[in-house]
Amino acid sequence: MEIIKLDATESTNSYLKELVKRNTVQDFAVVVAKTQTKGRGQMDSSWQTEPGKNLTFSVLKEMSGFTLDKHFILNMSVALAVYNSLKSLQVPRIKIKWPNDIMSGSFKICGILIENIISGTDLKSAIIGIGLNVNQIHFPGNPKASSLKNKTQKDFDLDELLHALLQNLKSGLSNLEIGSTHEIYKEYQSNLFRRGVASTFQNMNGSTFSGIILGVSKEGMLLVQLENDTLQQFDIKEIKLLF
Ligand code: BTN
Repeated sequence: MEIIKLDATESTNSYLKELVKRNTVQDFAVVVAKTQTKGRGQMDSSWQTEPGKNLTFSVLKEMSGFTLDKHFILNMSVALAVYNSLKSLQVPRIKIKWPNDIMSGSFKICGILIENIISGTDLKSAIIGIGLNVNQIHFPGNPKASSLKNKTQKDFDLDELLHALLQNLKSGLSNLEIGSTHEIYKEYQSNLFRRGVASTFQNMNGSTFSGIILGVSKEGMLLVQLENDTLQQFDIKEIKLLF
């Protein structure tokens, strides 16, 4: 496995994407940076963390043979690989918040940004970007963020942690090739944050409503039972879980 270690870059996802364009990297190449100056999050948000205290890295996964409609299987597998890594470190109350935030209790400790490289209706490859909050203690302006250190009172060696995560990702993503989709789907659903609990959501217009998360569809839509007992499914752009 090729690991490219950088002191600083704008975004490890962008850096790796450039290498893919130039055809200079192979399946499972990794780019890790101590600092990102323009770290990117989901839905055009930014990802900012204290330099040198956390893990910010990206992994290339060749996806040839996968059609675009199966992209959520990759999403679930990556979330589960991170979930399993953190479980084995005894991080308390780990859950996956749809689509792929990793929570400890009600705090987000890891964000995942998967960017697909597409050719027609086929996936060619995916850049899997992972931002895991590790030894940072304060998250000014971000009251819902936390870290492994805050949750376990321990300091972590970033290099060791990276290798453990890469190991789990490697085995999780090889399952994908074997095709155990049903297992992945079941495991993902059973570890879903706030499943079966009444929650408050916000729609695109900013209005709030209540509902209960029942699960996710195979395509990755969130299934919510509304107050009038109807079942509705939502795309990531359509809904935000508030609490
Ligand atoms: C999110 O929760 O919004 C996703 C955050 C993803 C952050 C990681 S850090 C490494 C990689 N490079 C980026 O620019 N973003 C991802």
